[in-house]
Amino acid sequence: MEFESVLPPLVIKGKRVRVPLIQGGMGVGVSLHPLASAVAREGGVGIVSSACLDRLVSKRKDKKVNTYEAAYEEVSLAKSAGGFAGINIMVALVRDYEDSVKGALDAGADFIISGAGLPLGLPAIQPPKDTALIPIVSSARALELICKKWERLGYRPDAVVLEGPLAGGHLGFKMDQIDLESNKLENLFLPVKDMAIKYGNIPVIVAGGIYTHNDILSFLSKGADGIQMGTRFLATEESSATSDYKQAVIDARQEDILVADKPGSPCGLPFRVIKQSPMFVSAQKRLREPKCDKGYVLLKDAEGKFTRCPAKESNENCFCICNGLLSSAGYNSDKEEPLYTVGTNAYRVDRIIPVKNLMDELTGKVLIPTS
Ligand SMILES: Cc1cc2nc3c(=O)[nH]c(=O)nc-3n(C[C@H](O)[C@H](O)[C@H](O)COP(=O)(O)O)c2cc1C
Repeated sequence: MEFESVLPPLVIKGKRVRVPLIQGGMGVGVSLHPLASAVAREGGVGIVSSACLDRLVSKRKDKKVNTYEAAYEEVSLAKSAGGFAGINIMVALVRDYEDSVKGALDAGADFIISGAGLPLGLPAIQPPKDTALIPIVSSARALELICKKWERLGYRPDAVVLEGPLAGGHLGFKMDQIDLESNKLENLFLPVKDMAIKYGNIPVIVAGGIYTHNDILSFLSKGADGIQMGTRFLATEESSATSDYKQAVIDARQEDILVADKPGSPCGLPFRVIKQSPMFVSAQKRLREPKCDKGYVLLKDAEGKFTRCPAKESNENCFCICNGLLSSAGYNSDKEEPLYTVGTNAYRVDRIIPVKNLMDELTGKVLIPTS
């Protein structure tokens, strides 16, 4: 008999997801198909990250694949064991954006979730057919901008992820806005929900700092349609973070988790890290010569072309995020130091568990005393 979650199902673009939990995309190389397919098998939504996927898949296959092929392969594998699976594609990774979208669509991704910038042109890249297109926003205003732009393209978001300031990875808030009372997820939620209703009852998924079964129940009772979680899935057996990364999460104390600004991410968005991450420490002491040999994060040059990675020119303002995060996923770990990104609640993680146990806990199948 199939276990029926005590949580209500999440319905997006006609897809009925039995457990309304989305495992958030975690780049670089943390959420790959082993994690995503495990979550999908448990009835939630598994999401692979598109970041630097060409390199990670090429290494795994020992054969050069391009961005399109890598997205196609990873989504196909994530879906192969059944359930719902998709991909997270960051707008900030301009060079690879369109090819990642096309590869995921051709592989039949159930969901494309896109943030770290506003995915204003996403529906125009290729007809999405059955794939649900889901932007990530941090405010009602951003959702309205996207809805207006997508309306002109003849499309409406199939759902929206509202990500608050407690999340891992890049944050959609300026440094001085992160701690504002008005930016707490519960306070951002109602205006976003109202906007989602205005544009046709778009399902709203909340993310950032949600940790326990009770947290999930609390947001669902406020009217959220689904929950996206990252940090809890980072320290599962199926996540592709290195064992050093997972151990750093277990060892992290509350005061070890901070938002890096300067040095920070070359994307220009605040980025949450464990302060002892070797690459972050080296960046603070300027021990690493500025160099970027990857070029995933590009800004415009004087001619308006995307050719410039700030980490190539200076190590005063930014760390070399692609190399740091690739190292945290076991790529070139002998040459580059790792950089560990986590959500604010990472200090509460005290062990590595299988996805099944985590899903049982989160869905209320197994009751865990809350600390
Ligand atoms: C290790 C890690 C990597 C992440 N990478 C990405 C990413 O590549 N793209 C993205 O949109 N969000 C990324 N996120 C954000 C998650 O998808 C998720 O929305 C967020 O972590 C939710 O907050 P929580 O960690 O408190 O559950 C990342 C989060 C973590 C912890």
